[in-house]
Amino acid sequence: MKFPIGARIIGLGASIPSAVITNADLEKLVATSDEWIASRTGIRERRIVTDETASSLASEAAKDALGFAGIDPTEIDLIVVATSTPDFLYPSTACMVQAAIGADNSAAFDLEAACTGIIYALAVAQQFIATGTFKTVLVIGVDLHSRFLDWQDRNTCILFGDGAAAFVLQASETENDILSTYLRADGSGAHLLKIPNCGTKYPHANKDLSKNLEKSEKFVEMNGRPIYEFAVKAVPEAVRTAIERAGVKLEEVDYLVPHQANIRIMNSAAERLGIAQEKVVSNIDKVGNTSAASIPLALWHGVKNKQIKEPAICALVGFGAGLTWGAAIIRWNAKDKRLLQHESKHKHGPSK
Ligand code: UT7
Repeated sequence: MKFPIGARIIGLGASIPSAVITNADLEKLVATSDEWIASRTGIRERRIVTDETASSLASEAAKDALGFAGIDPTEIDLIVVATSTPDFLYPSTACMVQAAIGADNSAAFDLEAACTGIIYALAVAQQFIATGTFKTVLVIGVDLHSRFLDWQDRNTCILFGDGAAAFVLQASETENDILSTYLRADGSGAHLLKIPNCGTKYPHANKDLSKNLEKSEKFVEMNGRPIYEFAVKAVPEAVRTAIERAGVKLEEVDYLVPHQANIRIMNSAAERLGIAQEKVVSNIDKVGNTSAASIPLALWHGVKNKQIKEPAICALVGFGAGLTWGAAIIRWNAKDKRLLQHESKHKHGPSK
C-alpha cells in the first residue's frame, strides 16, 4: 500500500494500576482455581484500579508515550481514545485526557470497537496523517473492565484486568511505520459479549425499568466458547490479509502481538499461521485481558523486557465484542534517535 504521507511511530507508553488481584484472590470470591485459570487462559494475575478512572489511567499512558517521543503535549493535533469503559457517556474520555495532559492544540474523540479498538484507532490516525489533515496524533487504548464485572460470575471476573497504553504517531515524508491495516465487524455476534445496561436500550431515567433489570444485565455478559471459536479463525485471517496488504511475507513478520484474551487463542492462531511460539508476544500472565489497551500494552512489555529486538515487523491483531476484529502491520524501530534518547533518560512507567 502506498501512502501520500507516512506515519511514523515515535512514542509508546503504558500505565497499569498498582493493585494486583491474583488467581488465589479470586479463589476466595468464586468457585475457581489457580490451576483452572492458568491452564485455560494463561492468566496468573491482573491489575485493578482503586481511585483511577479511564481518563486518569489514559493520561498517564499518554504522558509516558510523549516522554518516549520527546515531544510536548502542545504539538499534538488529535487525540483518539479507544475505549468501551469511558469515564462518562459524554464528554469523551479523549477530551478529559486532552485537558489533563495540556494538549491545548488538539482535537479529541473516543472510538468504540471493544478489544479491537486500538487497531481501529491506529487506522483512523493513519488516515488523518496520510491526508495531511493532522501531523501528530496520540492514540490511546484504555479499559477498566473491573468497574463492570460481576465478581460472583466466574465466567467473566477471572478474565479481565485494567490498563492503558498509547502510541504517538507523526507524519513523515520519507518513512512509514504503519504498513497496513485491516478492519472487520460482524454485528450478528453482538449478543456474545456485552455490557447491556449503560446505553439507551435501558434508559436509567426510567427508574422502574432500571430496577427490573436482571442482576446479570448490569455487568459484562459473555458467552466465551463461541468467541473462542470465532477468534481462532479471525486472528489468522486478519493477519494474512494485513500482511498481504502490507506487501510483506509471513516469514518477514518478526513478532505476532495479539490481543491478550487467552494464551490458547494466541498459540492456536500462531500455529495456524505457522508462526513460531517464540515470536508471540504475551503479557497475559501479568495483566489479563485489558481490552483496548491489550495490544499496545503487550508491545510495551515486549519492548521493555527486550523480547522485541528492533527494527522489527510486528503483526498487531485484535478481536472482541461487536463482533469486531482486525490487524495492523507495523514497523517498530526504536533505533530512531528520539527513541534512543528516551531509553537513556526516561525511566517513568509501570514497574512490571
Ligand atoms: O476480549 C474478548 C473477550 N473474551 C474472550 O476472548 C473469551 C474467549 N473465550 C475463552 O477464552 C474461553 O472460552 C474461556 C476461558 C472463557 C472458557 O474456557 P473454555 O475452555 O471455553 O471453557 P468452557 O466455557 O467450555 O467451560 C468448561 C468448564 C465448564 O464446566 P462443565 O460444564 O464442563 O462442568 C465451566 O462451567 O469450566 C467451567 N468453568 C470454570 N471452572 C473453574 C468456567 N469458568 C470457570 C472458572 N473456574 N473460572
